[in-house]
Amino acid sequence: MSPEPEDLSRVFGALVDRYEQELVHVHSEPDLRALHARFAGREGEIRRRLAEALREAPPAHKRSIGQAGNTALQRAEELFAARLQALRQAARARDLARTVDVTLPGRGRRLGHLHPLTMVRRELEAIFGELGFVVATGPQVETDFHNFEALAMPKDHPARDMQDTFYLPGDLLLRTHTSPVQVRTMLAQKPPIRIIAPGRVYRRDDDATHSPMFNQIEGLVVDEGVSMADLKGTLLHLIRRFFGPSLGMRLRPSFFPFTEPSAEVDMECPFCHGSGCRTCKGTGFIEIMGCGMVDPEVFRQVGIDSERYTGFAFGGGIDRMAMLRYGVSDLRLFFSGDVRLSRQFL
Ligand code: DAH
Repeated sequence: MSPEPEDLSRVFGALVDRYEQELVHVHSEPDLRALHARFAGREGEIRRRLAEALREAPPAHKRSIGQAGNTALQRAEELFAARLQALRQAARARDLARTVDVTLPGRGRRLGHLHPLTMVRRELEAIFGELGFVVATGPQVETDFHNFEALAMPKDHPARDMQDTFYLPGDLLLRTHTSPVQVRTMLAQKPPIRIIAPGRVYRRDDDATHSPMFNQIEGLVVDEGVSMADLKGTLLHLIRRFFGPSLGMRLRPSFFPFTEPSAEVDMECPFCHGSGCRTCKGTGFIEIMGCGMVDPEVFRQVGIDSERYTGFAFGGGIDRMAMLRYGVSDLRLFFSGDVRLSRQFL
């Protein structure tokens, strides 16, 4: 016995009621679509019942059965649309509730920038570049010959003691100064020579003003007729360009095995202008470099005719120059890798 159309429309009505009840528990669009498919989809409950009833019903009932089914499906569609809209409104309200405060300042991007030591090195290269110097380089792992021997410091020479060398297996070592670049340059090219050589050097030393790795800059000029006056003029130019236009300088007699005569370069203290302060320890001067006229023995080692050519050389710490330039009191800050330091040098 097939059911009467009235009974069927009650069955459909009950199905839609159940759909409506379950809709309340659905809180996402995917869940909603799944539920809708289960009741009103192609393979859903309503259509399944409808098809079943139509199959069994006598022809006279089919029309009203079809109408009851359509009514149920239509109600289900309306319920679906209403719930969908409600869900979307709720989602939008949630989004709006956590809106961005447009009055907050933006999160700016920081630009990358150079390390203060790189800035100083480049500036020194530029200053010497204007004078016609070119940049030369050499290895940080050096031979004993280039670092000492050719610079007139044979194995038993007492001056080696000053340099607290890191020795490596073989006849190798970590260069203790940039002076071996002088040797390499003179071995590789004939005068006229006019180079600077900035780079890392290593010594067994570690405190606020010494680091086992630090940077030096070396200078070398070899030509006919080069004199101590050329040396002095070059260094004074450097000091005034780099530290301040009115600063004074003095050359204090000293000794280096590879220069004769040799001198320490003292510049007038840029902090007190010579009157004496903490930085210059009350002396009014600060030692920044060693220098001198290239010793004929060095020329002999590299095969340059010391009767025809003369030359001057100088060398000193880049890091020290940077400390003085920027008033940094602890050398180790430069090597700490702490961006809070380098950010101050934009
Ligand atoms: N190489 C020396 C040092 O590290 C510095 C130096 C002194 C370099 C005199 C020179 C020079 O070129 O002529 O202590």
